[in-house]
Amino acid sequence: MAEADVKVLFMPSGRRGFFPRGTPLLDAARSLGVDIDSVCGGRGLCGRCQISCVTGSFAKHQIESDVDHLSPFSATEAKFVERKGPLKDGRRLSCHTTLLDDAVIDVPAESQVHRQIVRKEMEARDIRLDIATRLYYVQIGEPSLEDPRGEVQFLFEALEREWGVTDVTLADSQLPALQAALTREDRGITVAVYQEHLITGIWPGLFDQPRGIAIDVGSTTVAAHLCDLNSGEVLASAGVMNPQIRYGEDLMSRVSYVMMHPEGAELLTNAIREAVNDLFVELSDQASGRVEDILEIALVANPIMHHILLGINPVNLGTAPFALTTSAAIDTRATEMGLKAHPEARLYCLPCIAGHVGADAAGVILAEAPDRSEAMTLVVDVGTNAEIVLANNQRLLVCSSPTGPAFEGAQISSGQRATIGAIERVRIDRDTLEPRFKCIGSDLWSDEPGFSDAMAGTGVTGICGSGIIEVVAEMYLAGILSTDGVVDGALAERTQRIKADGRTFSYVLHASSDPEISDVLVTQNDVRQIQLAKAALYAGIRLLMDEMGVTTVDRIRLAGAFGSHISVSHAMVLGLIPDCDLEQVTSAGNAAGAGARMALLDRNARLEIAATIARAERIETAVAGDFQAHFVGAMGLPHQSDPFPNLFAVVAPPEAKMVESGDAPKRRRRRSSRADA
Ligand code: FES
Repeated sequence: MAEADVKVLFMPSGRRGFFPRGTPLLDAARSLGVDIDSVCGGRGLCGRCQISCVTGSFAKHQIESDVDHLSPFSATEAKFVERKGPLKDGRRLSCHTTLLDDAVIDVPAESQVHRQIVRKEMEARDIRLDIATRLYYVQIGEPSLEDPRGEVQFLFEALEREWGVTDVTLADSQLPALQAALTREDRGITVAVYQEHLITGIWPGLFDQPRGIAIDVGSTTVAAHLCDLNSGEVLASAGVMNPQIRYGEDLMSRVSYVMMHPEGAELLTNAIREAVNDLFVELSDQASGRVEDILEIALVANPIMHHILLGINPVNLGTAPFALTTSAAIDTRATEMGLKAHPEARLYCLPCIAGHVGADAAGVILAEAPDRSEAMTLVVDVGTNAEIVLANNQRLLVCSSPTGPAFEGAQISSGQRATIGAIERVRIDRDTLEPRFKCIGSDLWSDEPGFSDAMAGTGVTGICGSGIIEVVAEMYLAGILSTDGVVDGALAERTQRIKADGRTFSYVLHASSDPEISDVLVTQNDVRQIQLAKAALYAGIRLLMDEMGVTTVDRIRLAGAFGSHISVSHAMVLGLIPDCDLEQVTSAGNAAGAGARMALLDRNARLEIAATIARAERIETAVAGDFQAHFVGAMGLPHQSDPFPNLFAVVAPPEAKMVESGDAPKRRRRRSSRADA
């Protein structure tokens, strides 16, 4: 340390050092390894290097810090303010501020390259920002007769000189862009460099609006977030129905369509690509941007959607052994897959895990990180094919189970999708057996004043997935269903809600006042369908628990739209999930989409998920010997033999009851094709 040196402490990193008076703050920060962002290379153009001086006495570090200990506001900063508007209170551009005396410097989160993005509600992990594509502003040397090299070579030289970036190549499509960008007098351009080796974009002057999209392509809906690649912030979100529905309601019917129509695969691919492209335009419009500013796309999807979007015929995924064409992550140009963004935008698809367990499950694992916790964690994503993960920091097991579409309202007499008018919440009085319920589109319970008026427009139209879970669970708790799931016909003497229906009985959840409109009933067959679906899910879970050598789990995360809406306690009463401390059973929201956002914003997350998937142990329920035994036990409510001590410590169990069955539950066939799923 020379006599004239001054002391500087950077917060929150705590790094400190001594520097000669007059040292630019950005240089001091860099030499200490403090993470401060910059696109313009210290030219006072980008505003990414902002800091503020903390005033006060820092006895521990023997620093008296004051704003006067920094150089006065510079002409470059004044120019920046003129162009971009005022800086936040007390902020300075560290590239044009020098140290005059000891100072404590705060580097705000938005000026850090590798900052944490605070997670959204329901998301398990913060995201660390480390974008695969980085922007660099450079000034290219003037061409001359003495130096006949091309502009590309001047560009490479400038990147190395100004940023230490070496060994890059330029995407051929960007050659015209380079020439066009060099028309400015100062020959200043911004380049996008992907993974430190490929120049994917060139803009004249300073370009600082890079955008990225995280997209979750589901069989019913496609949801996407447009993110600012500078800050990681979500700028716009939108969703559309998957237009492939016109070729088949569920995955298998779409695969069947492809099998029966030679042009089917192409039609389905075109349909989804068109929808995705429209979504990109919609998101860009919402954020007042351009689709050409989208430089990165990260995608999750189930295996069939994944293959179709990539232009791969999905027929092999329709029958055993459900062979994936590739299970590896895909890293390619988005245009190769017909997606319209920046011409060199990169598309990253998370890896698939198995023929039934797709990149969406990889997204869930990435977002939830059950493999990073000591707690034995069960993650369940319920769909027509449930994806199940059981993990702790020692092992990660994955399987899928053919639950079928009952949880989505299909195969249920009054079942429907979760739209306005659908019953989504149900309570049944234990004494009177009278129900009350709530419908999507109104906050009122059916026994509250105003309910009829609120529902006058749509009427009560049916029951959606969460409503089905609740009504069957409530019927069991009220003693309407036996442990075997039989509707107790003897109760018809007590209430008109129990109606004979051939040899079995139904429960009238909602009696319609209009003779043209049927009542909303829960039939014996509906209960059977739910039993079959929940038994398949529970059996898959138990297979993983057996393999793991555990009889209980520490926590359960319910992923997906279904998981966000169902009542945890009702799901457990039904025996959809194993017994667990109810406080430890929570919704993971759209965890697959959260995983896509992580992969979009943090390139290390891509390495992490590849490594995690490589060590995942896949359990195939179709060939597992114990599946059928677990399935039969799981037909009971909540289970024929497994105890539920945590559940029944907080929920009063019904009296055990056996009722003679008017039907015989059929066992679900083993899966040999997705048609069974
Ligand atoms: S580094 Fe760009 S303004 Fe300071």
